[in-house]
Amino acid sequence: MSAIVLWDPKYPHNVGQAVRAASCFGVEKLYVVGSRVDLEGSKRKGYRLPREERMRGVYDVEIIPTERPFDVEPSLVPVAIELVPGAELLPYFEHPTDAMYVMGPEDGSLPAVALRHCHRFVRLPMDHCANLASALYITLYDAHCKDVLSGRTGPRGLVRTT
Ligand SMILES: C[S@@+](CC[C@H](N)C(=O)[O-])C[C@H]1O[C@@H](n2cnc3c(N)ncnc32)[C@H](O)[C@@H]1O
Repeated sequence: MSAIVLWDPKYPHNVGQAVRAASCFGVEKLYVVGSRVDLEGSKRKGYRLPREERMRGVYDVEIIPTERPFDVEPSLVPVAIELVPGAELLPYFEHPTDAMYVMGPEDGSLPAVALRHCHRFVRLPMDHCANLASALYITLYDAHCKDVLSGRTGPRGLVRTT
């Protein structure tokens, strides 16, 4: 079972879209490092996650704030999705069964403190960087396609239309 880490995301709509991407591909846990997005919807300053994503169960994805995502799920293989030198190209990448996909912030990249925990490094082949949620969709879709084409799973079905 895979999981996702968003490292210090800035905008709530990107967190919301990441939640939706996770839900589309059956990823049940989304860890969020940092405090720039208000995940609880409290009155404190900061960007507030849209209500839909805050409502437990809407997308079957647990949003988990943490400063130490790698300690929480030590059995998962941390995979940095980032433009770093020497990164493997996504089309050739064999996804670990238990991957923890680690995504950088919209206004930066994964910091050294995150990269040094990652075991694999993957770059999406494109002329410009994609936005955070798009990069996540592409990564999860690629993993799912490879699962389907190898016969490990069947294609996911449409479970809801909203
Ligand atoms: C909009 S990008 C951040 C900006 C980017 N670091 C830059 O230099 O302009 C947000 C995150 O999406 C992911 N990302 C976007 N495009 C990517 C690509 N082509 N390959 C790998 N990761 C990508 C990375 O996790 C990145 O930190």
